[in-house]
Amino acid sequence: MIVHLDGELIEARAARVSPFDAAYLYGDGIFDTLRSYEGFLYRFDEHLDRLEREAELLQLPFDRDADLWRARIEELLEANQLKEVDARVRTQISRGGDPDTDPRRSHPEEVHPVVFITAQAVDSTVATMQERGVRVLTLQNSFARGNFPLIKSLNYLPSVMAQRFALSSGFEEAILFNRQQKVLEGSASNVFLVHEGRLRTPSTRLGLLPGITRDTVLELCRGEGLAVDEVGFELRDLLIADEVFLTASIKEIVPVIGIDNSTVADGQPGPITRRLQRVYHEDVDRARRS
Ligand SMILES: Cc1ncc(COP(=O)(O)O)c(C=O)c1O
Repeated sequence: MIVHLDGELIEARAARVSPFDAAYLYGDGIFDTLRSYEGFLYRFDEHLDRLEREAELLQLPFDRDADLWRARIEELLEANQLKEVDARVRTQISRGGDPDTDPRRSHPEEVHPVVFITAQAVDSTVATMQERGVRVLTLQNSFARGNFPLIKSLNYLPSVMAQRFALSSGFEEAILFNRQQKVLEGSASNVFLVHEGRLRTPSTRLGLLPGITRDTVLELCRGEGLAVDEVGFELRDLLIADEVFLTASIKEIVPVIGIDNSTVADGQPGPITRRLQRVYHEDVDRARRS
């Protein structure tokens, strides 16, 4: 496997960063994951926009030159022979730092951020999840992603722990709640429900990651004439829903067929979820052709 580290393509096993990088010391950095479809970077501008917004919040220098980022990623896909398949592209920007800098004190521009990009083929389990649906585990509010939920930062421990708990308990994903017991998001996904023909997804005001796939689904619903309410709701609303699904760039749209020990509706992916999966793929194809 070849990775991109700080402007160079190198063998993954040879990749080295300083332990003085503030990302290693304090989780000071951001990351993004997008799906490339046989080399086509879907919703690339939106991913760059989010990175730019997050970098600004962290006072992290960021050059939003779309051609430069695209060239880096395309070169990486080429080097890993991932142009003919779908790939998971993970881009990370960490604060940087060396033994002579104190990234908490120095002016942010004095520390050189480190860009690290990896690309791997999308796992075949993703298609299985999309087809069969998944079972999710609900977790108490201490698993919510903390104080800066709008940022996909390298302080990702709550999500990592939630994923680990879910997997080790025999579930595919975890659902997180705030202190008022409102549904927030999955550990690495956003949540939608369908009830009597209307969709609902938690409002971003509750403090969650505004997923790019979430935005895409909202846009596709508008095009399809499907009503979506961005509101707060609770576990009981998920349990009486006709359909529940998750969204994320790699997984796209995944039906939820079970929550804890309960079954969602009849335990089969529902018609609106299926329709949105289809419409999502049509949108990817349209974007590729244009
Ligand atoms: C906490 C969290 N929420 C939502 C998402 C989905 O975001 P996107 O649709 O931008 O991939 C992710 C993606 O990894 C995530 O980590």
